[in-house]
Amino acid sequence: MKNVFCITHPLIEHKLGLLRDKHTKPFQFRMLIDEISTFLLFEATKDLNLKEIQIQTPVSSTIVKKLDEKIMICPILRAALGMLDSVFRLIPDASVGFLGFARNEETLEANFYFEKIPQDAINRTAIVIDPMFATGGTAIEACNFLKSKGIKKIKFISILATPQGIENFKKVHKDIEIYVAAIDEELNEKGYIVPGLGDAGDRVFNTLG
Ligand code: URA
Repeated sequence: MKNVFCITHPLIEHKLGLLRDKHTKPFQFRMLIDEISTFLLFEATKDLNLKEIQIQTPVSSTIVKKLDEKIMICPILRAALGMLDSVFRLIPDASVGFLGFARNEETLEANFYFEKIPQDAINRTAIVIDPMFATGGTAIEACNFLKSKGIKKIKFISILATPQGIENFKKVHKDIEIYVAAIDEELNEKGYIVPGLGDAGDRVFNTLG
């Protein structure tokens, strides 16, 4: 089963170039994250269930389609907050389940420190968002947690990934689709994606100092 989708499109590639540029200002960085996330979410939701309902147009009665799947978006704190608006624009009825991970800067391991998911999470499709899919450690832990809560359908959206992160993830979660805008070359010794875009959280929230 193919479960990694690298979404290429001239507009995405153009916007990725701007996003990677270290001279791009935070307000523009946030806008680009938002725009690229919209494209990725569009692809990641192409198999959502629909049902038919009858409505009345001004002219006649007709059958139209309506989403028949409840969605929970799971932003991984904090950088993914920059992707959240784009989700609400496309799926205004989505619920949000927050997952907090802090990276140990020495071991590069993900420490799970916070979760707040809706009570009916078990009845929802989870779409996890995190702009950077680096070692895959956070993604693996986030999906382990969601599965432990009984959630059956999970998808993952990231802007940049590494081959290593994807390989690590696929060993544990073969059943989860990953949607990314680019798969970069590697991780450096500090755990940054190369060429990457730097620290996504710092660039979204303008905390570079
Ligand atoms: N997290 C980031 O913000 N940037 C990277 O390059 C890797 C992880």
